[in-house]
Amino acid sequence: MFPCDFAWGAGTAAYQIEGGWDADSKGPSIWDTFCHGGGGRVFAEQTGDVACNSYELWEKDLQCIRQLGLTHYRLSFSWARLLPGGNTQDVNPKGVQYYNKVIDDLVACNVLPMVTLYHFDLPQALQDQGGWQSPAIANLFNSYAQFCFQTFGDRVKLWITINEPYVCAKLGYELGIHAPGLDEPGVAAYLVGHNMLRAHAMAWHSYNSIYRSKQRGAVSLAINSDWAEPCDPANPEDVAATERYLAFTLGWFAWPVFVSGDYPQTMRAAIDVQSKRLGFSGGSRLPSFSKDDPTILGTADFFALNHYTSRKVKPRGAFGQMLCMKRDQDTEDVLDPSWPVCGVSWLAVAPHGLRKLLKYIKETFNNPPVYITESGFSQVGPVQIEDVERCTFYQSTILELAKAVGEDGVNVRGYFAWSLLDNFEWADGYSVRFGLFHVDFSEAERTRTIYRSGREYAQIIAKHKSRTGPVDSS
Ligand code: GAL
Repeated sequence: MFPCDFAWGAGTAAYQIEGGWDADSKGPSIWDTFCHGGGGRVFAEQTGDVACNSYELWEKDLQCIRQLGLTHYRLSFSWARLLPGGNTQDVNPKGVQYYNKVIDDLVACNVLPMVTLYHFDLPQALQDQGGWQSPAIANLFNSYAQFCFQTFGDRVKLWITINEPYVCAKLGYELGIHAPGLDEPGVAAYLVGHNMLRAHAMAWHSYNSIYRSKQRGAVSLAINSDWAEPCDPANPEDVAATERYLAFTLGWFAWPVFVSGDYPQTMRAAIDVQSKRLGFSGGSRLPSFSKDDPTILGTADFFALNHYTSRKVKPRGAFGQMLCMKRDQDTEDVLDPSWPVCGVSWLAVAPHGLRKLLKYIKETFNNPPVYITESGFSQVGPVQIEDVERCTFYQSTILELAKAVGEDGVNVRGYFAWSLLDNFEWADGYSVRFGLFHVDFSEAERTRTIYRSGREYAQIIAKHKSRTGPVDSS
């Protein structure tokens, strides 16, 4: 049964929808630079320069939000729109005005905003000073966060500091397929993740000590994780590999915040073994928290989970001589052939994994309140407004969610579908569509048209909103 105050939401991110990349004194972000740099890094050299043009067409988004009957809407702030140079000495009033309008309009429509402060788009000016690889970033992020709490916190009660530090670190600094496009395998991602945790913790402490008593909101970071299960549950090596897989994804960020203030022991041990094997002499590649760092443990008021799919896991074995995260982790993940893959190749539909993962989170992290901050399904190829496969995805996922809440007693407070709109899907450009609304990127109006999945999601929300008693899981 879903509680009557359950949050039914959908999400977006600034770079993926706003456009207006240099409008009204916005500063460039690393995604502007990455896309403008060309070189085939983004599908068909596409960019987020215009995207859904939500910077000019916000009212259209609001109509979509209202049409779905959402109780909550998750958006992100573009740091470089608010602070073009990344620091609070240089505030862009037009940026403040834009987000004030968005928030005021939402609140006026009885839709509660959840705001992400950082969703992949670092101001380029800060990248030029070392970005997330520099320890100084934590203070800069903390100032930006304080500026946002101060300016918008009277109306925003749910904050996400950083979205998916795992994805930022791994795709941006290990594999180089996301901005800033660096590939320094086996080293940079761990450092970036470390500074993200320090930055997050500083912002949480600021909220806790300065703003919480007056604003009464909640702050967390959005951690992405697939569910993982051993290829052969009877094989201890597959079981150990699955533990490593979860330690390197979910555990990397959840352990320090929810369990121990430090990285999972399995992760550090695996990294150190590989360093030794390859004769790496620069100390542990996984940094340690020092006494000068903010306390990391306890810096989340809820668990924010981005979840899309599941994996079956076994050890990987044979590698070359190269230092890299994949080698540290030493796992190979495969898809169960019974799980359909209908959109992007990484997204196998395995909704049972959500229930299992939620139970694991309950048991491992001391039963925290949980918001599912992203969950969704993509379409690739010819557009189908009657998107039956996506409908099935949402029905089966929400069914598993209902079981997690009703039968397993997981304290889930909300569910945010990804995404409200088709949008700029990072390196896949506009070739991958995750929206509940179709967006026509070929015309200037960027017409939004509801998919069948949007209509069905609206019905699910309406049904649950009207209920106060037990909810069946259909
Ligand atoms: C997440 C990301 C979103 C969206 C989604 C679908 O990693 O936070 O911005 O792109 O994946 O791929």
